[in-house]
Amino acid sequence: MSTSVVTKGLSDVIKERRSVRKYEPNFTISKEEVQDIIKEATLAPSSSNLQPWRFMVIQDQEVKKELKTIAYNQEQVETASAVIAVLGDKEMHESVDKVYRSAFEAGYLDETSMDRLIQSANNLYPNAPEEVRKNIATFDAGLVSMQIMLIAKDRGYDTVPMAGFNKEQFVQRFNVPDRYFPLVLIPIGKAAAPAHKTTRLPLEDVVIEYI
Ligand SMILES: Cc1cc2nc3c(=O)[nH]c(=O)nc-3n(C[C@H](O)[C@H](O)[C@H](O)COP(=O)(O)O)c2cc1C
Repeated sequence: MSTSVVTKGLSDVIKERRSVRKYEPNFTISKEEVQDIIKEATLAPSSSNLQPWRFMVIQDQEVKKELKTIAYNQEQVETASAVIAVLGDKEMHESVDKVYRSAFEAGYLDETSMDRLIQSANNLYPNAPEEVRKNIATFDAGLVSMQIMLIAKDRGYDTVPMAGFNKEQFVQRFNVPDRYFPLVLIPIGKAAAPAHKTTRLPLEDVVIEYI
């Protein structure tokens, strides 16, 4: 006799994720689970594996209320169980040694390759204009943000990515060091109402050329 276990595949999770803006205000997600979600999400790829993303997790009810005002009173910031703020690191080269040494210590790189990679990243990143470094960090932070949202959905939670907040006020309120810059807030929680349905541009509009 065979039993069949139905598990959700990636494609289902992608199709079911929608931006949810109404959350159960009394529902809690533990700090440990938020950490697990972030840890898994950081398996995302990044330029030279420098992982120029940083996170601030806001779960305190009073602080969420304050954050709501910084986010132009968007309700989900207060009612979601947690808000994950994703920040970019414009000085990703500070992580070069740590990143490649850790791969060496794990046995994934020999010493010569480690030295070569460290040298080339140390030549490239500090000499790139700040705008280029910010673009790299922004792109990579987008990849990790998408993973956070899909992992959350896979665990039965919902999210909404939000760029609608006052970034200067955020930096001031949370004393964000100059090296980091806020990109997106991701409220995460248990949906209290479904998301608005959205459509997408047809394939022929977005695939601009087959070569
Ligand atoms: C970078 C970015 C910023 C966004 N900012 C906000 C926001 O401030 N508030 C909000 O309610 N939704 C925000 N959204 C959600 C979009 O409105 C939503 O993703 C889009 O309408 C598609 O809907 P769906 O996510 O449900 O598929 C943002 C999405 C992205 C990617």
